[in-house]
Amino acid sequence: ITVYVPRDSAATSVGADEVAAALQREAGDRIRLVRNGSRGMLWLEPFVEVETDRGRVGYGPVTAAAVPGLLAAGLLDGADHELCQGPVDELPWMRDQQRLCFARVGLTDPLSTTEYEANGGLAGLRRALRMEPADVVAEVTESGLRGRGGAGFPAGIKWNTVLKAAGSPKFVCCNADEGDSGTFADRMLMEGDPFCLIEGMTIAAHAVGASEGYVYIRSEYPDAVRTLRRAIDIAYAHGWLGENVLGSGLRFDLFVRVGAGAYICGEETSMLESLEGKRGMVRAKPPIPAITGLFGKPTIVNNVLTLASVPTILARGAQVYADLGVERSRGTQVFQLAGNVARGGVFETAFGITLGELVNGYGGGTRTGRPVRAVQVGGPLGSYVPPEQFDLPMDYEAFAAADAMLGHGGVVVFDDTVDMAHMARFAMEFCAEESCGKCTPCRVGAVRGVEVIDKITGGQDPDGNLALLNDLCELMTDGSLCAMGGLTPNPVRSALAHFPEDFTRKAAN
Ligand code: NAI
Ligand code: SF4
Repeated sequence: ITVYVPRDSAATSVGADEVAAALQREAGDRIRLVRNGSRGMLWLEPFVEVETDRGRVGYGPVTAAAVPGLLAAGLLDGADHELCQGPVDELPWMRDQQRLCFARVGLTDPLSTTEYEANGGLAGLRRALRMEPADVVAEVTESGLRGRGGAGFPAGIKWNTVLKAAGSPKFVCCNADEGDSGTFADRMLMEGDPFCLIEGMTIAAHAVGASEGYVYIRSEYPDAVRTLRRAIDIAYAHGWLGENVLGSGLRFDLFVRVGAGAYICGEETSMLESLEGKRGMVRAKPPIPAITGLFGKPTIVNNVLTLASVPTILARGAQVYADLGVERSRGTQVFQLAGNVARGGVFETAFGITLGELVNGYGGGTRTGRPVRAVQVGGPLGSYVPPEQFDLPMDYEAFAAADAMLGHGGVVVFDDTVDMAHMARFAMEFCAEESCGKCTPCRVGAVRGVEVIDKITGGQDPDGNLALLNDLCELMTDGSLCAMGGLTPNPVRSALAHFPEDFTRKAAN
């Protein structure tokens, strides 16, 4: 009987290793224990699954202490129990998703090449290797895939720039410096299906003529670093990487580099500086990395989810992907629900689902049971959205029209105890802490921003200082060199627009 216990760090951080050990100890030879990735239903971790005639039946959250009782109750037959969630594929959370990027995550042992191929792995790469590079680029363009790191730039157009650019060697760099608060999809993909990222990067290499790739992973993700490094070794051993990829003649070498804890190294040009061994400072654009990137050579810089979406697009065709989504937001996005939410985790679905469906529907509202007051979408530099706007479709342009941004798909929920003036202050504080210091509006503006918010909430000339804060926000938006300083006003402005009372309440008291 096959029993699955996730090895994902979200699961091991709440005791999955102990659960696995208890199962092995108590059930011994009766089970074949597989350490899979996480399904992404994080409120149910450690989530144990058993292969039965009815498909995989899930139990969670399981503790090591509960294992003997579960076995006695018939866990290995998929028997009912208070922790039994039923057949996994029929759970609304799983059934209602459209998992393309995350298709295999949670299904298999992430490092099994046999399982990878048995579940559709390598089909995209094999097809791509039979195609001309320009045709691969065209396929990605037609799919409508946009950069999943946050900016949403069309991936095919970026790839085409690299393909056409003169210079050798060319590079493919994967940005896995997932720094946004409330986001963890890059990590889960690297821990749960690392070959998918390797495959996506290899397709990209063939498409633009690159011979070397780098995955820049944040140091806070040691499990992802370990898993990806092992996956790369295995891929080399199987001829999926190296001097003759799958016998096609393509040469592609892949390396992992670990960051050192700077948020700004998620900005693409800082990341390139860091990869070159320098301090993570932003470079002015132009020139764009597609033309003058790593070591001055043409370079693709894409997020983990962008690159991991490519194998499916090549395997199933651009149209299948383009058929999903709304307007100019095509395909699926891996949304991440976090913060004060009853059911947190990853939910991959086509663009167009509303924010309310995600937060109140699948997320089940707040964990505290109190009303939702605000949701921050798109990381620490994203806007706060009030429940009155919960009918907003998850779509890049619809969010932009509402002065918000989808970013990397992170959705952080707050209940009615949140102090929004404090959150606005936090945005400025965060910027002051993480600024690379290259330009004045960000380096100095963020420090002044904290001071001026303190004056407003302290009751010092609130009207005058509010005007000053708005002025400062405008300057940071228009005058900053990169998105760090340029986007910090988002949370501040949205907090001011939707929750003005929080800025003057303390002053009035
Ligand atoms: P950007 O709009 O400057 O650039 C987007 C991408 O398109 C870049 O890779 C750029 O080089 C490329 N590009 C632009 N014009 C091009 C052309 N003609 N040909 C080829 N490529 C071209 O945005 P930026 O500053 O790279 O990213 C900002 C976003 O990052 C924000 O919207 C935010 O959501 C996101 N972000 C994500 C984080 C995460 O943890 N994933 C953390 C912080 C911010
Ligand atoms: Fe550096 Fe901030 Fe300027 Fe970006 S906006 S270049 S992080 S100082």
